Amino acid sequence: MPFLGFPVSFIEFRGLKKSFGKKKVLDGVDLTVERGETLTVIGSSGTGKSVLIKHLIGLLLPDEGSIHFDGENISEGGEPAFVRVRKRVAMLFQGAALFDSLTVFENVAYGLREQRKLTEEEIVQRVAESLAYVGLPGTEQMWPADLSGGMRKRVGLARSIASHPEVMLYDEPTTGLDPVNVERINRLIRFLARELNLTSIVVTHDFATVRAVSDRVAMLDQGKVIFIGTVDELESSEHPRVRAFVNGDPSFDAAIEETFGREQA
Ligand SMILES: Nc1ncnc2c1ncn2[C@@H]1O[C@H](COP(=O)(O)OP(=O)(O)O)[C@@H](O)[C@H]1O
Ligand SMILES: [Mg+2]
Repeated sequence: MPFLGFPVSFIEFRGLKKSFGKKKVLDGVDLTVERGETLTVIGSSGTGKSVLIKHLIGLLLPDEGSIHFDGENISEGGEPAFVRVRKRVAMLFQGAALFDSLTVFENVAYGLREQRKLTEEEIVQRVAESLAYVGLPGTEQMWPADLSGGMRKRVGLARSIASHPEVMLYDEPTTGLDPVNVERINRLIRFLARELNLTSIVVTHDFATVRAVSDRVAMLDQGKVIFIGTVDELESSEHPRVRAFVNGDPSFDAAIEETFGREQA
């Protein structure tokens, strides 16, 4: 329940702490996301960006702190709370793989079938609509092997939006794509936010994506949010770690290349 008299944001991470063994990853993250905004989360590789957003759908549980979604403290609600959240929040995983042995249609329909709520006819419609949204209408009978990397990414996105989420979490949606596909995905993120009234959290290390999609940007560093603001504010920030990121300090890029490498689209 929202606390009367306190403004409650749509999504709130409060004092979130998370360690793996002795490794402290999140060390008191405070972050709010407003309904309808697109927030990008940046920071060097291994800084806990993926860990942070996985907490929203209960893939990881906090050691300390809380997570509030639409006024409910979901970190106190146990699995039933996360089951409810997962109906409203979809995630495009980093390197989201399609099932190679399933057609594009079956890949996009997968989550809908699991929900067992829709008739076959409704599923057919949902899949068609979702593929149209990502610019791939009529590709239902194709196989993942027939698609380029950029197209596979968009089919993965169609699968995510097919369940009509209110919130989209994107984990490094443009990593490994060539510049044309990077731009295409960036435009899609904005387009879907507007068309589907989505609230979006985009984890990225790609500055083109930050510029293209952000209403606000949060920077994670050493377990904490060290910056939150607009892209303009980010670019004029005096904070040395923020400046290093904005100026493409090689220490950031080297770590990123090492972690992800590059694949052809
Ligand atoms: N399930 C896990 N078990 C153990 N360590 C993990 C797990 N998930 C993430 N980590 C560690 O947490 C740190 C942050 O990871 P991550 O959030 O994936 O970084 P990034 O900012 O690149 O997304 C890394 O050191 C990673 O190895
Ligand atoms: Mg990550």
